[in-house]
Amino acid sequence: MNPLRTVKGLLHAEDVPLAAVADAVGTPTYVYSAAALTAQYRALTEAFAGVPHLVCYSVKANSSLALLKLFAGLGAGFDVVSGGELARVRRAGGAPSRTAFAGVGKTRDEMAEALAAGLLLFNVESAEELETLDAVGRAAGRRAPFALRVNPDVDPRTHPYIATGLKTSKFGVPFDEAQALYRRSKRMRGVEAVGVDFHIGSQLTDVGPIRQAVEKVSGLYRALREQGLPMRYLDVGGGLGITYEKEKPPSAEAYARVVRAATRETGAQLLLEPGRFLVGDAGVLLTRVLYRKRTPDRTFVVVDAGMNDLLRPALYQAHHALVPVRARKGRPAPVDVVGPVCESTDVLARARPMVLPRQGDLFAVMNAGAYGMSMASTYNSRPRPAEVLVSGGSYRVIREREQVRDLWRGETT
Ligand code: LLP
Repeated sequence: MNPLRTVKGLLHAEDVPLAAVADAVGTPTYVYSAAALTAQYRALTEAFAGVPHLVCYSVKANSSLALLKLFAGLGAGFDVVSGGELARVRRAGGAPSRTAFAGVGKTRDEMAEALAAGLLLFNVESAEELETLDAVGRAAGRRAPFALRVNPDVDPRTHPYIATGLKTSKFGVPFDEAQALYRRSKRMRGVEAVGVDFHIGSQLTDVGPIRQAVEKVSGLYRALREQGLPMRYLDVGGGLGITYEKEKPPSAEAYARVVRAATRETGAQLLLEPGRFLVGDAGVLLTRVLYRKRTPDRTFVVVDAGMNDLLRPALYQAHHALVPVRARKGRPAPVDVVGPVCESTDVLARARPMVLPRQGDLFAVMNAGAYGMSMASTYNSRPRPAEVLVSGGSYRVIREREQVRDLWRGETT
């Protein structure tokens, strides 16, 4: 759902003019729509209506407390990959008992803390990790509930940097080794197998690989149940894509149809780990034009949001549409929109056709709700952006702009 609309020539998020936000809060600022976040969550849960399931929002996509609280209020569970993310979920009022813990490098301390908090399950990614979890469980006198993250070796047909389900990937346990490891776990007193998990990659726009992976893993789930393992959960990971430019990702219904059909025989409770689908379209990055400059070859527009604020274009050559907050009349020509960071890759858009903006003009960088703020850094000693949550005609600052003095917190001279 696109939360933006134009009213009398001015871009609004829901009913709030973006220019008013920029004037009051400054730029760069991430702006999210509560209505869009809610609509995406509902679309997904409704598509799975009638099937036991839990939407575990993937916190890495955007870990801001107000968004976590909003999803917790809608009934979501969470998918976390660190003790820090789990702490955020708890701080926002999310339930550890509805939270899955993934990641290839969980530390012993993170495991112990999550187990004590009463986590739903650990998604375990290697034999050594399972042995460590077993030791942690025994030390606590409990059985840690776990699923193995299996690697179904399916090509997700997405950007190679965000594909995770191939044989060459660092993620998961090789599919053919999973059964033996599950059997071994029966003799471990500190763990209990409760499910199977996979995740083949992010920004998936093709249902073919999803169907292949779910079918393969559902077969494994059934085989393990037949062997007497107390399996309950089938975690189908995240990955459902959104439209940044011309991609045509499956709708929530189309995605659910495929997953429901492939898991029907399992009787499992489904766990879903969407990140981008829930928050991607619901957020924009508001940025202001600092300077224009022409060189013999190019026209540059320098804006105040850099790769430290939104890393995706620099890291993945990702496309984000740029929408002027107030459209100007004129003839579009190709422009390079760049940030202030001292790196040649700090380019928000290359050769993008647009009417040349003026100094002080505002742009909304679209589809920036996922992997925007959560990947922001203070590189070049640039304080990270503010965040704003819009609901109807009102908005509130949900994260203050970082201050320069925050940059050296904990440092000594
Ligand atoms: N579950 C697991 C185990 C994951 O590794 C991920 C994402 C998700 C769920 C959520 O995936 P989503 O539904 O958001 O596609 N920074 C990159 C994306 C990295 C994704 C990492 N894992 C980007 O900006 O495109």
